[in-house]
Amino acid sequence: MSRSSYVWVDACLLSILFLVIGVSCQDAAGSSEVIRGVNLGGWLVTEPWISPSLYSSGADDEWSLCNGLGKRSCSSVLQSHWESFFTRDDIVDIKAAGLNSLRIPVGYWAVDVTDFEPYVTGQYPYLIRAVNWARELGLTVLIDLHGAPGSQNGQDNSGLIGPVLFQTNTSNGDRSLNVLRNLTEEFSRDIYGGVVTGIELLNEPRLSSMGFTMGQLTSFYTAGSSVIRAASNTVNVTFHVGEWSLETGTAPNTTSSRQNRDNGQAKRTWMRLMFEAQLAAYSPNGPGQRSIGWYYWTWKTEYDIDTWSYRRGVEQGYIPSDVSNSSTLAFPRLANGCVDSNFNYTAPARPGRTSAATPARPCTVGAPITSILGVLAIFVL
Ligand SMILES: *[C@@H]1O[C@H](CO)[C@@H](O)[C@H](O)[C@H]1NC(C)=O
Ligand SMILES: *[C@@H]1O[C@H](CO)[C@@H](O)[C@H](O)[C@H]1NC(C)=O
Ligand SMILES: *[C@@H]1O[C@H](CO)[C@@H](O)[C@H](O)[C@H]1NC(C)=O
Ligand SMILES: *[C@@H]1O[C@H](CO)[C@@H](O)[C@H](O)[C@H]1NC(C)=O
Ligand SMILES: *[C@@H]1O[C@H](CO)[C@@H](O)[C@H](O)[C@H]1NC(C)=O
Ligand SMILES: *[C@@H]1O[C@H](CO)[C@@H](O)[C@H](O)[C@H]1NC(C)=O
Repeated sequence: MSRSSYVWVDACLLSILFLVIGVSCQDAAGSSEVIRGVNLGGWLVTEPWISPSLYSSGADDEWSLCNGLGKRSCSSVLQSHWESFFTRDDIVDIKAAGLNSLRIPVGYWAVDVTDFEPYVTGQYPYLIRAVNWARELGLTVLIDLHGAPGSQNGQDNSGLIGPVLFQTNTSNGDRSLNVLRNLTEEFSRDIYGGVVTGIELLNEPRLSSMGFTMGQLTSFYTAGSSVIRAASNTVNVTFHVGEWSLETGTAPNTTSSRQNRDNGQAKRTWMRLMFEAQLAAYSPNGPGQRSIGWYYWTWKTEYDIDTWSYRRGVEQGYIPSDVSNSSTLAFPRLANGCVDSNFNYTAPARPGRTSAATPARPCTVGAPITSILGVLAIFVL
């Protein structure tokens, strides 16, 4: 078991873009199964585009949602969401799809919230419940500090849209460190059986003149690593996880299932190539490679947006039914590890679960993988 495993993708840190680069890591010696993970996005940290019904009031982030409703009412609305948006059945389906790890985003307010902040607390028992389900079903868990005080990126996914204020007041860093300490102490307890294999310091901090300097980020990372390491000798300190999806830059309609009207063969064929090309890129392909696996964003959305909902991809057959079983892949791998994008594959005429590659049929997909990957790097939401 590796003592510490630092996940670090410099390209991401240096960019103000939201990057979707696979998990990179060193020091995975002596381990381990490749991580094939999925995010429980929009659950303990909500996002309007993932669960628009929660946001029918027009609030655009969790802060303003609760600010509008008041703590009591927000607490009851969010309790129902936490109770229902991810259930044990989802985790069973995740396992059945051949995935072996969950990344669970949490906001600092699950552990530490003040009276003058509108956020409500109460997520923690749900986090514990999900960790226990993962344990029962044989999945590992990465817990990720997705929202930090002051906001680390000014985006809805941090809980609060606006300026990046995290680094402007040391109390924000101190509070975050306390949350990291809490998560590490809690989930390294024996009762969880080591199922939480990593704690991620901070999701998508924004490096720019409007956000962190590299020095500020590095010093938070240094302090966070020490806090985690002091609380546990073994849990991995995770610096950065790139998320990926099938989104390519055309904003979908997130408030209805309209974006899914086209279930056509051509689209499903293309999505399958897009999925498998990224899968190949983000999976380790031999000794000495830095990747230890990946986390897809996200398992589902309220309307199962086709480019973001892993669940929908499996149902529609453009994501392999069992991603850990290479026999269920449609595209052959070339010697260099990439998929053969010229392979003559066409999705089945009807959408639906496919257990294996279907026989080759005429196909004109031939876009070079490099250009497909090139457009992946930007989230639009
Ligand atoms: C930093 O945050 C603390 C706690 O929220 C607050 O009391 C203090 O005034 C802030 N300091 C500055 C310089 O904004
Ligand atoms: C972490 O915080 C939660 C929520 O406040 C609390 O229930 C739990 O006991 C804390 N765990 C530790 C180890 O401090
Ligand atoms: C740290 O990550 C590696 C690589 O995924 C894994 O093999 C190891 O079990 C993890 N450490 C712990 C304590 O879970
Ligand atoms: C999304 O679809 C719904 C239902 O058809 C429609 O009312 C709404 O205006 C659409 N939103 C956008 C941004 O197109
Ligand atoms: C892998 O997938 C193939 C093709 O669907 C299937 O025949 C085989 O039983 C699967 N293997 C495992 C271990 O599930
Ligand atoms: C794809 O396979 C089909 C059926 O085997 C064949 O008729 C067609 O010519 C092939 N297309 C290409 C581009 O190789």
